[in-house]
Order: sequence, then structure tokens, then C-alpha cells
Amino acid sequence: MIESDIKAKLSFSDGTPDIDLPIYKGTVGPDVIDIRKLYGQTGKFTYDSGFLSTASCNSKITYIDGDKGELLYRGYPIEDLANNCDFLEVCYLLLNGELPNAGQKQGFEELVMHHTMVHEQMQFFLRGFRRDAHPMSVLTGLVGAMAAFYHDEIDYSDEKAREVAQIRLIAKMPTLVAMAYKYSVGQPFIYPDNKLSYTANFMRMMFATPCEEYKVNPVLVRALDRIFTLHADHEQNASTSTVRLCGSSGTNPFAAISAGIACLWGPAHGGANEACLQMLNDIQANGGVDKIHEFIAQVKDKNSSVRLMGFGHRVYKNFDPRAKLMRETCYEVLEELGLQDDPLFKLAMTLEKIALEDDYFVSRKLYPNVDFYSGIVQRALGIPTEMFTCIFALARTVGWIAQWEEMITDPEYKIGRPRQLYVGETSRKVPNISVRK
Ligand code: ACO
Repeated sequence: MIESDIKAKLSFSDGTPDIDLPIYKGTVGPDVIDIRKLYGQTGKFTYDSGFLSTASCNSKITYIDGDKGELLYRGYPIEDLANNCDFLEVCYLLLNGELPNAGQKQGFEELVMHHTMVHEQMQFFLRGFRRDAHPMSVLTGLVGAMAAFYHDEIDYSDEKAREVAQIRLIAKMPTLVAMAYKYSVGQPFIYPDNKLSYTANFMRMMFATPCEEYKVNPVLVRALDRIFTLHADHEQNASTSTVRLCGSSGTNPFAAISAGIACLWGPAHGGANEACLQMLNDIQANGGVDKIHEFIAQVKDKNSSVRLMGFGHRVYKNFDPRAKLMRETCYEVLEELGLQDDPLFKLAMTLEKIALEDDYFVSRKLYPNVDFYSGIVQRALGIPTEMFTCIFALARTVGWIAQWEEMITDPEYKIGRPRQLYVGETSRKVPNISVRK
């Protein structure tokens, strides 16, 4: 971190002396005011619930400029990566800081693809779940259980042990997601085929059965691979911050990633693509395109809690750059499958057009986010709605683990411990039960 010559001066009206706070400059993006010594010097905390103005760490992995609609992984624009690299190259980049050369790419692919199998016992653990359990709850459990299955390397201060955990997570996540799916539909698990690419192997584990040959469709594989790339990291979002906070206690990385998956499940975060498709299905079931205006009126009504799912973002106050790429992929996939006239897709496009012209959304800078289109693509690929967030979790695992690694190796690394503004009762005595109201 480079310290700026400029200092922030904080003044108080209660007689507390002014203090100067250091300011740091990033390579790009807003400067940050260092408040770490604030409590020691003034006895006061800062208040920022929701982290609206607080940088919780310094990071070299991902940069977002929400106003410009820019997303960079290790300095590379997401558009360049999505058009020129596959997901495993992006994984390598996020983990190592640089794109792999041809030899490194081959070595990394071999490494990952040789770790795709999970312990055979995992399926018996999985069979303990009800078949109708939400796959995100199953995935949270399975990944958390990896801490029990792979407890051999418990010294994560050792670089090699961390690397093994990272590769295991990236390699086994597709297998676990596919197992959770197969279990929910009552089909046999399909073992990985390491001759295939990472994404083609995942699609085969999801959709093949032992009775028929599974043909890999390169257009669909490319689409899913792009979904993975677009979701691979997104700096300090809720689930990544969860992984960092959970991991900051020194806990097992599989446990920390499991916490991230639990966080991702929420509809305001990774659950949005599922919620978005449900919203489209509901509108369709209640009259379709003719009812859009009624639905938009409901969204704009402050007394209703209805939101236009797939619109808006905490950071992007412009088009989500991932949404543009996903929109492109959406057209490609629907054309490949001959689904251009799909009524749900037409409904989504009409909804998008109306919202982009409506002053409510324009004035609040609410643009479609990646989830608005990724649900439509996934549905076309044959992925059921309740699996959408699992696909997101699979893709984000590399981002989570890269951020965890960065935190563990940061010389300033400390256990995360936010403070609070206490507004509850002051100290009081416990009354006898007979006199309590
Ligand atoms: N539909 C209708 N109104 C919205 C929406 C929406 N999707 N999003 C925000 N608004 C409105 C709010 O009501 C608020 O209006 P007001 O100023 O009149 O009170 C204003 O826009 C600002 O909204 P906030 O909730 O303060 O914005 P915040 O940054 O906290 O929320 C969030 C971001 C949670 C993503 C929100 O836009 C949302 O709920 N969107 C729908 C869910 C979604 O698509 N999530 C996916 C996020 S991307 C991802 O995880 C990959």
C-alpha cells in the first residue's frame, strides 16, 4: 500500500483533539482512509453496517469500477478473458497472478483433472440427505464434509498443504455439484471422465446416464465455461467476505468455503438467478407479456416488497459487464438449440426493454446484472432452476480460495472482528421469575 502525502483530519465537537489519519492509494480506484488507530486514539469506532464505505482488506485479485461497468481479474478485462481464455486458464490466473503459458496450462489442467474423483464414502454421506433437500443445502454440507474427508493436511501455514486444498476444491466441486443433482433426480452418479475438458466433464456428469452415450456439444460447453469465467471472482462481495472472515480464524479451508456457499445461497446474492427465473415463470403463469406493466407497477410500489430480480447491484451503477457477455451467450445458446422463440426468453427481453426505459430504474441506476440472463442460459442448457446457485458456487470456488490464500499470506492478516454500536439495555439485575412480566 502506498501512503499518500495527504492526510485526513478528523475533528470533534466534544473537545477530543483532532487527529490525522493516513490515506493509502491503490493502483486504481478510491483512496482509503486508515482508521485502524482511531479507537486507540479517540475511544471511538466508525459505523458502517453493510460496508458501504469500508475496505475490509487490500487485494490484488479483482477490481471493479461500478460506475464505468468495468471488471478486471488480475488486471485483465473480463471481456478479454471471456473471449480468449477458458475457465481453467482463468483459475490459474486468479490463483497465481499471471495467465499460464502453454506448458503451464497443460500442467494445471492435468493437475486439476487428476483430482476430480471424490472419496467413495462421500456418496454414503450424501445419501443421508432427503432427496427433496435444496441442492445448495446439500452442497454446503458436502463441501463442509470435505474438511472431514481430507483432514490429512491440517497445517495450512504450509504452502504445499494450501495448494493441495485449492486444487482439490476446484477439481472436486463439479463432481459434488453433479452428485447433488443426480441424487435429487434419482439417477446414478456418473464418475468423472478425465479425458474431457473441465466443463465438458461437468456437463457429462450432470446429464449422462449409463444407458446412453453422451455427446458433448461444444457450443453449450463454451456457454457454461463462460458462465464459470464470469462468476469466478467479484472482489469483496458477501460470500467472499464470509470466506475471508470465516477463514480468518484459521479454520479448515473446506469449512470456510462451505460458509461462503451458505452465504451465496441468499436471494440478494447468488440466489438471484433462481429468484429471477421464478419471477419470469410467475409473470408467465399470470398472463405473460400483457401483465408486465402490472408487475412493474408492483415493483415500483414502495408498499410492496416485490423487486425486479436480476436488476440492480451494490457496486455496478452501470451495465454489469458480465451481463453484456451473458446476453451474447444467451442468444448463441438459444440459437444453437432452436429456442429463439422461447416464450420465457421473449418475456425477459420485453421486461428488460421496459425497465431500461422506465425512469424508476434509470434514475436509480438499476441495470440488468449477470443473473438476469444466466438463468435463461442455464435453463436452456437443461440445468434445473434449483441448481443455478450451485453452478455459481462451483464457479466462485476459485475466487473464494484465491482470496483465502491472499488473506492467509498477507503480513497484516488478523482474525476479522468487527465492532458494534450497542443500543440495547444497560446493565440490569435478573428479576425473580415470579415478578417477570
Ligand atoms: N427492483 C426494484 N427496486 C430496486 C431494485 C430492484 N431489483 N434494486 C434496488 N432497488 C431500489 C431500492 O428499492 C432503492 O430505492 P429507494 O432509493 O427508492 O429506496 C434503490 O433502488 C437502492 O436500492 P438498495 O437496496 O439500497 O441497493 P443495494 O445496493 O443495497 O442493493 C441489490 C443491491 C441487493 C443487488 C438490489 O439491487 C436487489 O435486491 N436486486 C435484486 C436481486 C439481484 O438481482 N441480486 C443479484 C446481485 S448480483 C449477484 O449476486 C451476482
